[in-house]
Amino acid sequence: MTAGTRPTVVLGHVVTPTTSGTDGLLDIPSGAVAHTDGTILDVGDVQDVLARYPGALVEDHGDRFIVPGFVDAHVHYPQIGMIASPGLELLDWLERFTFPAEARFADDIHADRVADFFTDQLVDNGVTTACVYATVHPGSAEALFRQAQRKNLRVITGKVCMDRNAPDDLLDTPSSAVEDSVALLERWHGVGRLEYAITPRFAPTSSDAQLTALGELAASYPDVVVQTHLSENTAEIEQVRSLFPGTRDYTDVYDRVGLVRRRSVFGHGVHLSDRELRCLGQVEASVAHCPTSNFFLGSGMFGVARAQSVTGLRVGLGSDVGAGTSLSPLATLGSAYQASRMLGAPLGVGQLLRLATLGGAEALGVEASVGSLEAGKDADLVVLDPSGPQNSAMLRNRVDGAETLEEILFATMVLGDERAVARTVVAGV
Ligand code: GUN
Ligand code: ZN
Repeated sequence: MTAGTRPTVVLGHVVTPTTSGTDGLLDIPSGAVAHTDGTILDVGDVQDVLARYPGALVEDHGDRFIVPGFVDAHVHYPQIGMIASPGLELLDWLERFTFPAEARFADDIHADRVADFFTDQLVDNGVTTACVYATVHPGSAEALFRQAQRKNLRVITGKVCMDRNAPDDLLDTPSSAVEDSVALLERWHGVGRLEYAITPRFAPTSSDAQLTALGELAASYPDVVVQTHLSENTAEIEQVRSLFPGTRDYTDVYDRVGLVRRRSVFGHGVHLSDRELRCLGQVEASVAHCPTSNFFLGSGMFGVARAQSVTGLRVGLGSDVGAGTSLSPLATLGSAYQASRMLGAPLGVGQLLRLATLGGAEALGVEASVGSLEAGKDADLVVLDPSGPQNSAMLRNRVDGAETLEEILFATMVLGDERAVARTVVAGV
C-alpha cells in the first residue's frame, strides 16, 4: 500500500440516506467510513471496517454524527453581501437590492473576492455540492469556478442570461448569451468536480428569442444542467402570463423551447398547478425548495409532500441566498419543516435530512457521486456536533436532554446552524 493510497477511517455515529432506501435513514451508532483518494471505500460498523483496513489512519469523532456532505440545489453567490435586505416582495426586491449588487460583478477582482468568501462559507456550513447562479458577467462564473476548483468543491454554475427587464448594464443578447455560455462550458464543464449550468435567470428577464436560443444550446448539450426560476411569486406569474401570451402556463414557457428536461432545476415552484408538476415529473426535472427565501419574500410555501407524490419529480433543498436567510442547510431544513407543518403534511427527520443530501443530489443529477455515504461515492462528509460548546446554549440544552437520534437531529435542524458543523471533509480532505 503506497503512502498516497493509505485509507482514512472516520469513526462516529453514521447517519445517511441510502440510494436504495426511501425516507428511512441508515443509522450506525458505532459506525465508520473508510475513504481514500477522495472516494468512499466502505461504510459499516466500526469493528468490521477497521478489520478490513488495518494500518489505516483513524480519525475518531466519538459520538458525533457523520452525515453526507450537504447539497445546496439553488443559491446566488453574488447575493451573499445583500442577504437580509428587507421589506419587499420578489420583483421590487430584485430591482431595489439585487440588480445593483450584481452590477458590481463587472469587476473581476470583486467577483474573485466574493467567490472566495462564498466558497469558504459553503465549507463552514457543510455544503460540499452546490448549484449556483453567477451574474450576467462571464467573469463572475470564471471566478466561482476558480475558487471551487481550489477548494475541490462540487460546484455547478453558469453565467446568468437576461436580455430584458433589467438595468442596461446587466443585459446580454440572445447571441452573446449563447457565445459566452458556450465558451465557459467548453472551458470548465467536466473539469474535476465542476459542471456548467445553462442559466436563464427567469422568463421575465429573457426574450422569447433568448429562451429559444438557450433551448437550442441545451439541445446540443443534452446532459448539462439547466437552472432557472419558476412560479415563485404571484406578481411574477402574472407578468409571465402577459409577456408570453399563448402559452399554457409558466412551465410551458420553458417547456416549449426545450428547457424542461432531466437535470433542469427549477427554483421555488411555489404556485405550480398539477399539470405543471406532472409536466416536470414526466421528464424527471427538479424543483429546488427554498423555504427561508419563500418566507422572507412572502412568496408562499412549496408543498414537498404534494410534489413528491408526482411520479418522477425530484426535489432538493436550496438556500436561495440572498433572498434566503441562511447558507446553513440545517437552518433551511428548520424552515422546510415549518412550511410542511403549515401545509398540514409535516416532514419527518429522515425526509428532511434526505432533502439536504440525496434529494438534492438527485435533483442535480449527481446522485451517482454524492448525497449519501456509500462505497464508490465521493468522500464528502460532515461531522455534526450539536452538543459542542460552540453551539447556542439553547441547542446544547435541548440535545443534552434528548434520547433518540430523531430528537437530536430534529432539534439540530430547528435550533442549529453552521456552528453544529464540527468538520467538513471535501473529497477526502
Ligand atoms: N427570480 C429571478 N431572479 C431571482 C433571484 O435572484 N432570487 C429569487 N429568489 N428569485 C428570483
Ligand atoms: Zn434564486
